[in-house]
Amino acid sequence: MEKPGPVAFFGEQFDRQIGAGEYALNPFERQALPHMKGNVLDLGCGLGNLAFAAAKQGARVTALDACGNAVDDLARRAIESDLPVWVRQADLEGWRPEEQWDAVACIGLLMFFERRHALRGLDAVHDAVGPGGVAIVNVLVEGTTFMKMFDGDNYHLFTRKELLDTFEGWQVLEEREDWFDAPENTVKRFRTVIARRPG
Ligand SMILES: C[S@@+](CC[C@H](N)C(=O)[O-])C[C@H]1O[C@@H](n2cnc3c(N)ncnc32)[C@H](O)[C@@H]1O
Repeated sequence: MEKPGPVAFFGEQFDRQIGAGEYALNPFERQALPHMKGNVLDLGCGLGNLAFAAAKQGARVTALDACGNAVDDLARRAIESDLPVWVRQADLEGWRPEEQWDAVACIGLLMFFERRHALRGLDAVHDAVGPGGVAIVNVLVEGTTFMKMFDGDNYHLFTRKELLDTFEGWQVLEEREDWFDAPENTVKRFRTVIARRPG
């Protein structure tokens, strides 16, 4: 599979983390973990720390990412620990669900697609959640000035409205924005929405 820019970018980072045995949950994954119950999907799982932790607490997990070294490493860890994590390497641009899950996490993925695919990806997350289930979405939003991770114009900085409109009629369980300083006086501005589909 030819690697899109961000996948190669994160692949190098994951290689370093695998070498160092660094598998800590990031703050967004920690926020998501309590909602990962039942049959769950982690879209853009990266190293799969959330997927692994969710399986450890009893969830049955499907984890997808385009990054080969990350999914191979997650599959190895899941087999060694005898945990129910089904892992697959997949290019998720244009992905559509064929079934529904009790929880769908999509953390730090959709902004790497150009606008049309990013918005369709958000719709796909919406459609992948079953009745009473939970969507956990984290993306970079307008105001972000750190551009190094992006592949040319293939990115989308979301608006708050795009996120909230998608989950209109759902119960918003959590919504927050986090700012992080980035190199060369730039900033990364993330928004997280956790919402429950009516049962
Ligand atoms: C910021 S990392 C987030 C990983 C993980 N969710 C986390 O919170 O640590 C972005 C992830 O998106 C994946 N990714 C980027 N473009 C992708 C694509 N077109 N298809 C599938 N995965 C992609 C990268 O490989 C990387 O694992």
